[in-house]
Amino acid sequence: MKKIRIAVLVSGGGTNLQAIIDAQGSVIRSGEVVLVISNNENAYALERAKQANIKTAVITKKAYGAAFETEISKALEENKIELIVLAGFMSILSKDFTSRYDHRILNIHPSLIPSFCGEGFYGLKVHEAALSKGVKVTGATVHYVNEIPDGGEIIAQKAVTVQDGDTPEVLQRRVMEEAEWVIFPQAVEQVAKELGMRNEE
Ligand code: GAR
Repeated sequence: MKKIRIAVLVSGGGTNLQAIIDAQGSVIRSGEVVLVISNNENAYALERAKQANIKTAVITKKAYGAAFETEISKALEENKIELIVLAGFMSILSKDFTSRYDHRILNIHPSLIPSFCGEGFYGLKVHEAALSKGVKVTGATVHYVNEIPDGGEIIAQKAVTVQDGDTPEVLQRRVMEEAEWVIFPQAVEQVAKELGMRNEE
């Protein structure tokens, strides 16, 4: 079966991108990351993509303003992308954009949705909120992306225990190691496999 062409959109460190790259050929067999797009020219994720010989593009709001999403769409079309993976991509996509890629955009969120999600909940802020609330269990969620921030259909979730004395940084790391880096590659494979089967029909 032909591999599904995947683009990963990033903004920061890119540890989830790395987990996906490392899973290619083992967990991920039905798709291949052929493009990494960053909305931040200084994202370390770009370095990770280059190390893996994956094509990169930098598309910032500063450079493109109102044409930001149009420019992303252009890059996706030029590279014949079939599946978009948001891996720490810190920009909310419009309804116009998400509806064009219905059930073809995945996101990872570092909590058990519907807790600590939606606009304003991203990165460390999610873990700060979980610790302030005093939850004893948190985790990560992979979901499809629609026009509602963190509101699309859930694909996978994994729970992680909060421990006494956790700081947001310590909890973030545990959620990444025990949940995000595990369920994200698995979910990417699941969706790529489904899309591949649909292509064969
Ligand atoms: C990850 O924890 C991811 O779940 C989170 O940002 C971090 C990115 O790290 N995403 C969100 O909060 C999206 N709302 P990474 O760049 O090392 O993958």
